Amino acid sequence: MSMKDMTTISVIKADVGSLAGHHVVHPKQLEVARERLERARRDELLVDFHVTHCGDDLQLIMSHRMGENNTKIHELAWATFTEVTEKVSRPLKLYAAGQDLLAEAFSGNVRGMGPGAAELEFQERASDPIVILLADKTSPGAWNLPLYKIFADPFNTAGLVIDPVLHNGFSFDVLDTHTGLSVRLRCPEELYDLLALIGDHNRYVISKVFRKDGLPSAAASTARLSMIAGRYVGKDDPVCIVRAQSGLPAVGEVLEPFAFPHLVPGWMRGSHHGPLMPVSVSESQNKCTRFDGPPRVVALGFQVSNARLVGPSDLFADPAFDTARTKASEIAYYMRAHGPFIPHRLGPEEMEYTTLPSVLEKLKDRFQKAE
Ligand code: 13P
Ligand code: 13P
Ligand code: MG
Ligand code: MG
Repeated sequence: MSMKDMTTISVIKADVGSLAGHHVVHPKQLEVARERLERARRDELLVDFHVTHCGDDLQLIMSHRMGENNTKIHELAWATFTEVTEKVSRPLKLYAAGQDLLAEAFSGNVRGMGPGAAELEFQERASDPIVILLADKTSPGAWNLPLYKIFADPFNTAGLVIDPVLHNGFSFDVLDTHTGLSVRLRCPEELYDLLALIGDHNRYVISKVFRKDGLPSAAASTARLSMIAGRYVGKDDPVCIVRAQSGLPAVGEVLEPFAFPHLVPGWMRGSHHGPLMPVSVSESQNKCTRFDGPPRVVALGFQVSNARLVGPSDLFADPAFDTARTKASEIAYYMRAHGPFIPHRLGPEEMEYTTLPSVLEKLKDRFQKAE
């Protein structure tokens, strides 16, 4: 198959600084990123692009013919984030300017350098709807529960029961973020094994989903910033690409899990559990204010047409998700009432931004044998 037959969607994101703390990008950052990607489109490196944000994360949604993990595409994303940092974040002294650019210089692929990337290469079907999911104030494990529901739960996805094409099920690639090893699990046969792993969303994260016949169905970013930097530098704020319809879950089945605002790690200082609130990409909802949150997810729907991105439609801009937002807000009150107590605060293993070692050091001589 020639390169021209295949389309690749690359969603590459980074937090390169925010207006007033960590809650939202500055409009000038979006403008500079658009100009940079427009040049790449004119140079025919990209076929199309859409620049947007989720909270304080700058999102580059790009379509092209270059395949996954292409150096030129990754270099373009890195150059865009660098340019936005130098032209906007630093001169305006935006907060945490260049936050996610953890490497000194680009070296082939943004993975391991701070930015997050989800990429999916596929041959376009007669009509190819996709949903791009973008989150702020959380980490890649936040997609485990919704991806499970979309591709393996018949109570969520009616198509698994009634559409013969979906009926055979899906395979999940699960990454162990501690060892860097990945395992492919087939569902429904290995459903319980899958849940045994992905229920621990701090360690095991779904990176790819395929239909049993090999059709690429979803891709998620898996970067864990703290594991790159060795300290807390902000949450990973993941992205995900999901293909939909005709032999895949319907768009409504892709969105349905987000009617339940499940608890995810992140929120204030990346150190608290909170509900994932589905929001519109519009200014009125897409900024993390309360206790720097609660964690948020935006969903954008596109049609992919000869690698062009037709759209987007702002999918959570629907009163049908108002109840989920209200519920997320109620959960936020409930969780916040715990203050610094676990399980609002993350457990010790996950506490990435922590004064605990220095507190223990200070008190070490005062610990005595208990009676
Ligand atoms: P971000 O990861 O979105 O920058 O958030 C950092 C933070 O500490 C918020 O309280
Ligand atoms: P600082 O105010 O020290 O940056 O810490 C809070 C925070 O938001 C962490 O990123
Ligand atoms: Mg930030
Ligand atoms: Mg962020």
